[in-house]
Amino acid sequence: MKIRIRRYHAMRKPSTVVQEWEIPDGLTLLEALAWIKEKKDPTLTFRSGCRSSVCGSCSVRVNGKERLACGYKPKEGDLVEPIRFAPILKDLMVDQKAAFDTLKRAKTWLESFRSDAVVTPKEEKRTELQSDCILCHSCYSACPVYESDAQFLGPFALTRDWRYIADPREGEPMGKIEAIQAKGVWDCTLCGECTAVCPQGIDPKSDILMLRTKSVQSGYNDPNMEQFGSFGLDF
Ligand code: SF4
Ligand code: SF4
Ligand code: FES
Repeated sequence: MKIRIRRYHAMRKPSTVVQEWEIPDGLTLLEALAWIKEKKDPTLTFRSGCRSSVCGSCSVRVNGKERLACGYKPKEGDLVEPIRFAPILKDLMVDQKAAFDTLKRAKTWLESFRSDAVVTPKEEKRTELQSDCILCHSCYSACPVYESDAQFLGPFALTRDWRYIADPREGEPMGKIEAIQAKGVWDCTLCGECTAVCPQGIDPKSDILMLRTKSVQSGYNDPNMEQFGSFGLDF
């Protein structure tokens, strides 16, 4: 079977090339990449960790769709590329720092721990799925808003924020709610691309809708609607 890999090297001319490789049948894509590296070209660069769809480090795009390489079985003619909207370091490995920084900006942790809070099974269930995020960056790679605005907090920071805002042990959720107003919940177009690509079945679009509701309940408004409101007053 043949697959194609888009490779990048900053010092090479041209810096980007698509190479075709004959690989043995029956391998996962990650196994195929490792096979190419071991048998054909030791310079092929990619990221991996757990090899069992748990660590999120091996995300790539296959035929334009985000996939975990360790959980994907290649098909004839597949085109493998790095995930999008992050600087490519080499071949399939990207610099994920900017996306990780959004976690800090969105304050995705318990800021004030309420030790007296009781978490019921129902409440635990509410954020169980979001806790399964493996930070694979697939949702960032698929997000059209992140494509046009690198300052957008993006799906995984927002879904993580919802996980902590909805946690009864968070004593002061307002800092997080404030942090997601600019370049956050109101900038999302609710296109659902992030939800479609998540390998963990997380639904960032729904979480963003929950965050919008929580924002309004906390006294914030959709700035886009405020704009419409002022138009209305002019008439
Ligand atoms: S729903 Fe929002 S966060 Fe998700 S991909 Fe679309 S614009 Fe991005
Ligand atoms: S929300 Fe899903 S797609 Fe996004 S980083 Fe987490 S696991 Fe990956
Ligand atoms: S190597 Fe960990 S998710 Fe693929």
